Amino acid sequence: MTAQCLAENDKGHLTISGCDTVELAGIYGTPLYVMSEDEIRRVCRSYVDSFQKYYNCKGKPLYASKAFCCMEIVRIVLSEGLDVEVVSGGELYTALKAGAPGERIHFQGNNKTDAELQMALDHGVGDIVVDNPAELERLNAFAKAAGKVAKISLRITPGIEAHTHEFIRTGQLDSKFGTDLQSGAAMALVDRALELENVALTGLHCHIGSQILETEPFVHAAQVMLVFYKEITVRHPGFTLSSLNLGGGFGIRYTQQDRALPYDDYMQAVSAAVFERCAALELPVPDIYIEPGRSVVGEAGITLYTVGNIKEIPGVRSYVSVDGGMFENPRYALYLSEYTALIANKADKGKNFTATIAGKCCESGDLIGEHMPLQQPAPGDILAVLSTGAYNYSMASNYNRNPRPACVMVSNGTHRLVIRRETYEDLIRCDI
Ligand SMILES: Cc1ncc(COP(=O)(O)O)c(C=O)c1O
Repeated sequence: MTAQCLAENDKGHLTISGCDTVELAGIYGTPLYVMSEDEIRRVCRSYVDSFQKYYNCKGKPLYASKAFCCMEIVRIVLSEGLDVEVVSGGELYTALKAGAPGERIHFQGNNKTDAELQMALDHGVGDIVVDNPAELERLNAFAKAAGKVAKISLRITPGIEAHTHEFIRTGQLDSKFGTDLQSGAAMALVDRALELENVALTGLHCHIGSQILETEPFVHAAQVMLVFYKEITVRHPGFTLSSLNLGGGFGIRYTQQDRALPYDDYMQAVSAAVFERCAALELPVPDIYIEPGRSVVGEAGITLYTVGNIKEIPGVRSYVSVDGGMFENPRYALYLSEYTALIANKADKGKNFTATIAGKCCESGDLIGEHMPLQQPAPGDILAVLSTGAYNYSMASNYNRNPRPACVMVSNGTHRLVIRRETYEDLIRCDI
């Protein structure tokens, strides 16, 4: 098993937070996203505690809501003391509707529209992370028209190559995100931000990538950003930064091969580096923000499917088709992401079968995984795919006009619906 919330009961069924997954599939139908509230809270607390242990409570973790954005998860993370990071008007709307106060929202994005910037200003978003010079000018103009001063930080591209899939690597020079440090563009952005009257520069931000399984790139990013901070203070004497946001990207376990670190290892390493660098550079110690998404919800989630057709191609492979697919989990199609799967109603049996798990969409690449060890499958079995809490629901679509699945939150043996299953009526609600 990957997550701590998973176990097996005396019927030989997979359980999550004390709930029998086969019963959940019977009650709510499949495909079904199941999220463990206990696990989400446990991870949130480990991040919050790591700030107490290693960083004198200066700064805080934010939840990168792109990983799984729905009102109930926003409510849970807020109640654990995390702020919320959003990257679109839709995520901002969800956070506000879930009760997030504007000052606890951090708004990212490499191409925020005029309407999104206006919305952020209207709702008093506490930290608008400006991505580039053109956005800075637009935001300043909107804030001026509204008679406001927007609190901003600047998204910097620190030039760091993290060891992860190229599509989820973001800190290197050739990136659509942020303003580049090495060319001098980042300093020019700081200069301009300090000139403008309707923005107040409070922080710097960087994010180097996702599913990173080592502390070293984060330490490196912190060091690079603090050297930049020093250069800013030399150029603009008297200027102090209140925050340094080092982004998210902490890796999780999808398979036994993933060596995920305890999450507070990251803060331990980063805190030590920040204290050391600030002392060496004679800088006031800034608040640190980190913004994990995947690690808050990833291992807390599983997806349940009903097995349909099983097709054996002798000498080639065995396809096990399920009632989901790339419309509710596009990550294999996008990145060849690996998962662990098991037959939930045969969790106590050995895995003696190798499956290609296929979805029901009209694409040959619509797979959940290949070469996956499984118990002997049969039509009607309940298949569980583990560690699907992040970037599954949030990346889901209605491809082939498949309704998006429901999501159930489980906690300590109880379960409740937090996202209802879409209906066919939902599918045509915008059609004219
Ligand atoms: C700016 C920013 N912050 C935070 C995250 C969250 O990363 P992760 O889900 O890997 O923790 C992302 C993900 O792409 C991001 O782009």
